[in-house]
Amino acid sequence: MSCALTQLPEWAAFKDAASQSSIDVSKLRIIQAAGLSLDLSGQRHSPVLSEAAQALLAARNFTQMRERLLTGGIANPTEERAAWHTALRAPTPNPEVATERQRLNAFVRLADSERRWRNIVHIGIGGSDWGVRLAVGAFGYAGTWRQVRFVANIDGHAIQGGLAGLDPHDTLIVLASKSFTTAETLQNGQRALEWLQAAGVEDPYKQVVAITARPDVAQAWGVPAAHVFKLWDWVGGRFSLWSAVSLTTALAVSSDVVAGMQAGATAMDNHFAEAPIEQNAPVQMALAGIVNRNALGYGSLNIAPYDFRLANLVPYLQQLEMESLGKSVDLDGDTIDIATGPAVWGMPGTDAQHTFFQWLHQGSDGAPVDFIVCQAADHGWAEHHQSLLANCLAQREALLNGKTYDEALKECLDAGAAQEKAEQLARHRVHPGGRPSSLIVLPRLSPYALGALLALYEHKVFVQGTIWGINPFDQWGVEYGKVLAKGIAAQLSGQVPADGTAQDASTAHWVKTFAKSLKG
Ligand code: F6P
Repeated sequence: MSCALTQLPEWAAFKDAASQSSIDVSKLRIIQAAGLSLDLSGQRHSPVLSEAAQALLAARNFTQMRERLLTGGIANPTEERAAWHTALRAPTPNPEVATERQRLNAFVRLADSERRWRNIVHIGIGGSDWGVRLAVGAFGYAGTWRQVRFVANIDGHAIQGGLAGLDPHDTLIVLASKSFTTAETLQNGQRALEWLQAAGVEDPYKQVVAITARPDVAQAWGVPAAHVFKLWDWVGGRFSLWSAVSLTTALAVSSDVVAGMQAGATAMDNHFAEAPIEQNAPVQMALAGIVNRNALGYGSLNIAPYDFRLANLVPYLQQLEMESLGKSVDLDGDTIDIATGPAVWGMPGTDAQHTFFQWLHQGSDGAPVDFIVCQAADHGWAEHHQSLLANCLAQREALLNGKTYDEALKECLDAGAAQEKAEQLARHRVHPGGRPSSLIVLPRLSPYALGALLALYEHKVFVQGTIWGINPFDQWGVEYGKVLAKGIAAQLSGQVPADGTAQDASTAHWVKTFAKSLKG
């Protein structure tokens, strides 16, 4: 039994130190990690807070927990599994992983040499989807000779749109599902198969590939053994980007992208394992997040990638952070009496500035922001990149420094407003400032840098889970919803009476109404 976090004197000391610390805008605090610069100058910091953080990490057995994670120990005790995604991207992986990598690369080489599969339909959801969407969006944004469609949602419009207009004879269906039981993926896969069959494709199963930890189930579904790529139970679903699920990335862009991302992530893994606490980027980012959540009371975290290509970073991080840290009991099953993972939300800048940044600047709640930007762009228009960088820095500056009433008044008077009008207007123009943010600078959006960025967040989440004492690798809430949906689906299809006896009045009402309308 571990001690509850709030009973630890180290926790009280950390919270006290956090409350007494402030953001010192005159001091630069930048950590270099795996080629990325993490600027934490916009977060609370002080020598006392730093000392308290070290003591808190020691009290939470951070070093041992990190060791367990990185060596494949049982880091996910409620499912009695490792969470060994770092082993998947290691430069010299174990023989099983190496074999799957070789098989995947051979598959891609053959498809490329034969110029086969002009269309790829990637069917998967959650971790079997977002990472690949992110990588393909980041590196295939300008289009490649293959057209890639992603189908995740169980809403039939998703698969309808996903298949529409494609030539079934030159389409590869990639079914990505660790469990190979996920309703969305299996139903959409079935529709895709029917689409191939209806088009008279000679052997539809030969146009299907599966990536799964249950190869036997995929084969029983009909996928030929040579088209089944393996992942393992010791990889969490939301980390499966690092597995053969990246087949779609390799086909859509190239195997080099996959290798580059793995190399960058490994560099961050090594940094996480070796850098001293004060210079350890994931650890310091995690601590800043805990200060914001537990000492300053922020309920959410905004992600602002100033890079159009990183649009899918937000949902990717939403799953990583919220599926991992959306927990209210500790490892002993005791209710935690403090706030845990924040809600994560965002959108690429500058779109975000014209959508919700007003709320960040002057709303009553505000939220810490992670600004992410590339120093160099991969297009030739310097003017665009200059504007992008300027906007990123300007938003951050406004959040940090704010604008006082006197500054606002002067501004209004200088613009020619009469004294009374200027005084009234100035009150609307005050920015509180002091709103925390981090800035992550990538040299450019290389696969290496993106891999390092994702690993930075993964380890940050792990450190926060360790401090809060929760299991960041399970997702029982999601599992519960799946079970209920199965029961309701059985009622809607008439397999089970829709009498509503076991349901609340509203659910029962709509089950009956929908069952009737579905019957026609
Ligand atoms: O959302 C719950 C979840 O289990 C995720 O962790 C996972 O990424 C997703 O469902 C898809 O699961 P699978 O890869 O098994 O189809």
